[in-house]
Amino acid sequence: MSSRSVLMLAFGLFASIISPVSGQLYTDCNPLNATCAPDPAFGTAHTFNFNATPPTGTFNTTAGTVDYSSANGAAFTINKKGESPTLISNFYFFFGRTEVHLKAAPGTGIISSIVWSSDVLDEVDWEFMGGNTTHASTNYFGKGQPDFHNADYHPVNGGVQDDYHNYTCVWTKEQLDWYIDSEHIRTLLAKDANNTLSYPQTPMKLSLGIWAGGDPDQPKGTIEWAGGVTDYAQPYSMYVKSASVEDYSTGKEYSYGDNSGTWESIKIATGNSTAVENINKQPEKSLSDKWNDLPSGTKTGVYAGAGGVGALLFLGLVVYYIKQRRRGKQEAALAAQRMDQERMEMERFKKEGGNPDALAFDGAEYNGKGGMASTTTYAVSDSPPGSSAGPPQKAWDPTGSGPGTASMPLLRDDAMSPRFGAHGGR
Ligand SMILES: *[C@@H]1O[C@H](CO)[C@@H](O)[C@H](O)[C@H]1NC(C)=O
Ligand SMILES: *[C@@H]1O[C@H](CO)[C@@H](O)[C@H](O)[C@H]1NC(C)=O
Ligand SMILES: *[C@@H]1O[C@H](CO)[C@@H](O)[C@H](O)[C@H]1NC(C)=O
Ligand SMILES: *[C@@H]1O[C@H](CO)[C@@H](O)[C@H](O)[C@H]1NC(C)=O
Ligand SMILES: *[C@@H]1O[C@H](CO)[C@@H](O)[C@H](O)[C@H]1NC(C)=O
Ligand SMILES: *[C@@H]1O[C@H](CO)[C@@H](O)[C@H](O)[C@H]1NC(C)=O
Repeated sequence: MSSRSVLMLAFGLFASIISPVSGQLYTDCNPLNATCAPDPAFGTAHTFNFNATPPTGTFNTTAGTVDYSSANGAAFTINKKGESPTLISNFYFFFGRTEVHLKAAPGTGIISSIVWSSDVLDEVDWEFMGGNTTHASTNYFGKGQPDFHNADYHPVNGGVQDDYHNYTCVWTKEQLDWYIDSEHIRTLLAKDANNTLSYPQTPMKLSLGIWAGGDPDQPKGTIEWAGGVTDYAQPYSMYVKSASVEDYSTGKEYSYGDNSGTWESIKIATGNSTAVENINKQPEKSLSDKWNDLPSGTKTGVYAGAGGVGALLFLGLVVYYIKQRRRGKQEAALAAQRMDQERMEMERFKKEGGNPDALAFDGAEYNGKGGMASTTTYAVSDSPPGSSAGPPQKAWDPTGSGPGTASMPLLRDDAMSPRFGAHGGR
């Protein structure tokens, strides 16, 4: 890092400490003021089912861990102060659509969120206050400018915390539309956003995350907006079953042709995106996949033999390999040997009482404690924002690029408070 960038970083930290209202989302390099590296494009449409870890390279996890299970999807849990587990896409979409099936977290001051954010800090949000079980809020920002009037509140049938709901946003250069469970609830026309100036119009990353807007160290206005002070006596979880993302552009990369931050300035480099490559990379087949691939007759045999030693599974797999693949004797023997190894592994897991890979011998549901869950942990500073203990903690940063800055998205202080923000929720 050059001394200049260290200086700038120091200044950035300082600025965000003294001026929380302007210290919004952090961006590594803001194309409004600089020439930045291109953004990797999504360039496709894909549904990420969070019954398992998303394909390597598609999302980063920050500020905590996310657990994946077929029962709940992705679980984002705040166990203690300082945690704000977040999934951030490594790809950008340039106009498009996201459909997220989410169950919001309870807890006063706890914010569940779906956020789009761009390098110039255009932003499109869904937010759920843990203290409010009935309403979802929608919001948007253009070029990082706080605006007191952008938030809107919407009732959700059955409440936001008891079940998964379909929160969809559709985005073109003309307008943004928000839907809850297929019902259209809000439109923003580009021309109505300060004559397009404040209209979100630059390539967006998708973030899914939970954070404590009610942390006692948050600014007063943020705590009020979040619905009150968070009590960390119990954990709070938000769950996301799936996220479908569709990029309305195709290409390899998006870059800013000038400092205007307008959609007209975006250049699209053609080619296949890294995201598409990552999605298409066939992961090494897991035991559970192999199990699911088995013909049901074989499975029945295995269930029947489950009280035994799994010998039937072994036999079933061998028969399967020989029959299905019509391999030669030698190959079949090799396959059998490999199966035998895996059988022994399964036996070992069974003895240890574990459930290595979603493989339920008794036909029970996958309990989510499989080996697929991410075990990556992140050190999160406990020092409050702006404390003398060091740089402010990164309470929540859906841009994922802040080097430990006070990049809480809602450090707009009063900016998003319902006192100013609501313009007639439905
Ligand atoms: C860009 O730079 C100008 C002047 O240096 C500054 O006032 C402005 O806040 C900067 N904008 C962003 C988005 O960083
Ligand atoms: C939830 O939010 C809506 C919209 O702002 C509001 O009318 C309602 O009173 C809130 N409920 C609670 C419990 O705060
Ligand atoms: C979710 O809502 C969107 C928008 O209305 C709709 O197009 C989509 O079909 C819905 N998804 C499901 C699974 O119903
Ligand atoms: C709207 O745009 C004008 C310039 O056309 C600018 O001065 C003003 O600050 C903008 N307002 C907001 C809320 O961004
Ligand atoms: C992009 O992917 C397609 C289909 O996989 C392939 O045929 C094509 O050669 C790729 N293009 C580039 C530039 O790699
Ligand atoms: C994700 O992590 C990788 C590796 O640390 C980094 O290069 C990339 O910029 C990160 N992406 C985002 C969106 O933060």
